Amino acid sequence: MKHDFPFYNFDVLSSTNDKAREFAKEGKSSLVVVAERQEKGRGRFGREWSSSFGGLYMTILLHVKDINKSRYLTFIAAISVARAVREISGLDVKVKWPNDVLVNGKKICGILTETVSGKKSSALVGIGLNANQKKFPRSIGNKATSLKIQTNKNYGIKKISKLIIMEFNNLYSYYDKRNYGKIIEIWKKYSHTLGKTVKAKTLTGTYTGKAVDVDSDCNLVLRLNDGSVKKIVEGDIFVV
Ligand code: BTN
Repeated sequence: MKHDFPFYNFDVLSSTNDKAREFAKEGKSSLVVVAERQEKGRGRFGREWSSSFGGLYMTILLHVKDINKSRYLTFIAAISVARAVREISGLDVKVKWPNDVLVNGKKICGILTETVSGKKSSALVGIGLNANQKKFPRSIGNKATSLKIQTNKNYGIKKISKLIIMEFNNLYSYYDKRNYGKIIEIWKKYSHTLGKTVKAKTLTGTYTGKAVDVDSDCNLVLRLNDGSVKKIVEGDIFVV
């Protein structure tokens, strides 16, 4: 089923995910919240997300049947951003496990999927894309990039957000049909991580090995130096 996804546009919000959560609690669904900037943009593990004017900050709100499958929505969002960015800029775009989109090895987009449980469960798929920013705070300056930095052009935020939603809507049909295998298969085609030797920093420890696969639950599969296989469920990946 295709959704309409009406846009709700704001100049400033604390976080588009928070606004989408309010809408979810009011019973709304299948909509997109966009803000020109955020005062408390956040990333995974409660990290701050630099949210100055010029970037794209949006959250897709959806009712979901199975709240435990929301990781696939993160993958769908990453592929959608990769396709939309490639289309408007021609840049070579990759997805990085579990929730990033990269250009030339630098992070151009992060995705934060949160859930709301209730009579009807919802997923909030938050997308932060660095579009027209010319620079970033020094703490992330060497890891982050933007469309502007990469191409020296400015981009229409509305146009990009519409393209992302169009791609998301197309891929969402696999999710709706519970064809999760197809989502993983497409994600792997854009993968920056697979085949590389990586260091995975997780909440329980650090593991170094070759990223050999992403399993059917979206976990990263590493082959460690001793030949054993380690499933990484959460954490940060660094190419070594
Ligand atoms: C990450 O890389 O850790 C995820 C970053 C997600 C940022 C986006 S911006 C729109 C939405 N609102 C937020 O507060 N966060 C997400």
